[in-house]
Amino acid sequence: MKKKILVAGGTGYIGSHTTVELQNAGYEVVIIDDLSNSNIEVLDGIEKITGVRPIFIQLDLKDKEGTRKALAANPGIEGVILFAASKAVGESVKQPLKYYRNNITTLINILELMPEFNMKGIVFSSSCTVYGQPDPQNLPVTEEAPIKPALSPYGNTKQINEEIIHDTIHANAPFKSIILRYFNPIGAHPSAEIGELPNGVPQNLIPYLTQTAIGIRKELSVFGDDYNTPDGSCIRDYINVVDLAKAHVIAMDRMLNTNNEKIEIFNLGTGKGVSVLELIHTFEEATGVKVPYRIVGRREGDIEKVWANPAKANKVLGWTAQESLADTLKSAWNWQVKLREGGIQ
Ligand code: UFG
Repeated sequence: MKKKILVAGGTGYIGSHTTVELQNAGYEVVIIDDLSNSNIEVLDGIEKITGVRPIFIQLDLKDKEGTRKALAANPGIEGVILFAASKAVGESVKQPLKYYRNNITTLINILELMPEFNMKGIVFSSSCTVYGQPDPQNLPVTEEAPIKPALSPYGNTKQINEEIIHDTIHANAPFKSIILRYFNPIGAHPSAEIGELPNGVPQNLIPYLTQTAIGIRKELSVFGDDYNTPDGSCIRDYINVVDLAKAHVIAMDRMLNTNNEKIEIFNLGTGKGVSVLELIHTFEEATGVKVPYRIVGRREGDIEKVWANPAKANKVLGWTAQESLADTLKSAWNWQVKLREGGIQ
């Protein structure tokens, strides 16, 4: 019988790609999502790619009673992957309580409900934001690098969430956890049936870039060229979203089928740092499309440079990022073109 997994936030960007990979790997997926930052049509995209429509429950996971009912109506869920969270850094500075309420209540509800329904493990979406700006000797950054004070309420919720999971497991919770610290997820499924769908003006680099390339935005602002990096622009580790999604399937397999540690943390990145300017040029070469851009001042709160040492995930999970940056950027472009064809943007 197929193992059943709850994907909390499964219609979102990373959640939808992970649902596809879980279904491809033979899992049955139950999605709970309140659609506050995603769209019901994502289910059509998932079905087109995999031939299977996941079970979908529209529900706010802050509603514990509602979540309990949903789980009771879908018995036999063995593991949960928690994506559902508010994730806009800038908004979190303006509306901190929204972030603390959404991101912390949701986790607590799920952790409290897991034993009631005999769930064996939770994969949690964390972020390289927990490392802040690593000291030079800690680049590329490993899981052992110190956690730095968060620069935003959003980042703080990720740190607090990790601590809540640690404390809960430490208190002999009857389940395991794998915490995945993502670097910068980008790109879309190669079918262009699913991808990133930002609400309003995008805050992240790739959706802003592809919207500029297609003419929705006039020009891309490059936030600073006076950083201590080879070309002066910030450096990140851009990881293909399908590669990232596959790591979740491996993590879930590991928790459900092996005698691994009760709590493990993995960096998910490529191990390669890429500057904003390099990324723009790689996009232009890969797609043949020009990106009008202008250098502007630094964005408050930006980290100068961070990229992963993914050796632990490579070795322990047997997972390595596969897609090239050029192909990943092409997938983001194909998705943007598909959105235009669909009249969405
Ligand atoms: N950038 C631009 N112009 C833009 C948007 C971004 O130059 O219009 C630059 C940023 O300055 C940064 C890089 O592109 O150097 C990447 O920026 P993103 O906003 O795409 O991503 P961040 O690295 O800032 O954000 C990521 C995650 C968050 C996390 C944050 C912590 O998206 O979840 O890292 O630093 F909290």
